[in-house]
Amino acid sequence: MIYTILMIKKIIMGNWKMNPESLEEAKKLGDEIRKKIVKTKRTTVVLCPPAVFFNSLKPKIATKNIKYGFQNVHPESSGSFTGEVSARMAKNMKAEYVIVGHSERRLMGETNEIVGKKVSSVIKNGMTAVLCVGEKEIDENAHHLIFVRDQIVKGLSGLKNEDLTKLVIAYEPVFAIGASKPISGHEIHQRNIFIKKILTGLYGKEKAFSVPILYGGSVNSENAKKIVVEGSVDGLLVGRDSLKALNFAEIVKSIDSL
Ligand code: PGA
Repeated sequence: MIYTILMIKKIIMGNWKMNPESLEEAKKLGDEIRKKIVKTKRTTVVLCPPAVFFNSLKPKIATKNIKYGFQNVHPESSGSFTGEVSARMAKNMKAEYVIVGHSERRLMGETNEIVGKKVSSVIKNGMTAVLCVGEKEIDENAHHLIFVRDQIVKGLSGLKNEDLTKLVIAYEPVFAIGASKPISGHEIHQRNIFIKKILTGLYGKEKAFSVPILYGGSVNSENAKKIVVEGSVDGLLVGRDSLKALNFAEIVKSIDSL
């Protein structure tokens, strides 16, 4: 059988997390990023500001080159869920992407089952779900691989084959997030292949190879290109360096020129 391996457009996502502290600063950062990222040819840029700033930033950052997303949603459309924001609300605010299952949310008690419901809800509402997976530590008996496989299998349990066009997987080893350096390009490549194997087992090779795999964890303007090349990943999920307009723009430029 001949498989068509698609050339996937690269995706660079900026996860602002719970930053900056005021709407003024958020608008300024959005403006700076918009000015610095002029035109990309092969890269989709996605900004994920805090939900509370989303609507004020949207007219500024909703250009052809820059898409925008939420950092989290609740799977139900509405109801008695104090403090929550639903996937339907995100969609109604014209979000196109939602980060789901980030390790910082899992640390607050989000289980694989909850993550799975969120992934389904995001896709059902017509947005792209960015499912974050990654081991907390590496152990010599390879339990960390079982851990990641479980996150993927359970995270995708509600999806049908056709839903895969709305899926991105972000591999983020927890110990590399907010750290001083990413894991090596070789290790990223190994995990990339591992994730593709799991997806192949679930959906077949052709579908599996169409799902973009991103890397996240201590990505910066200096290491971004090396990570994408050595890890053969389809893009990056950037935390700290997405809060520095110049650095973020440098990351986008270096990947777009590949
Ligand atoms: P970092 O965060 O780039 O600051 O390490 C990455 C992430 O949490 O997605």
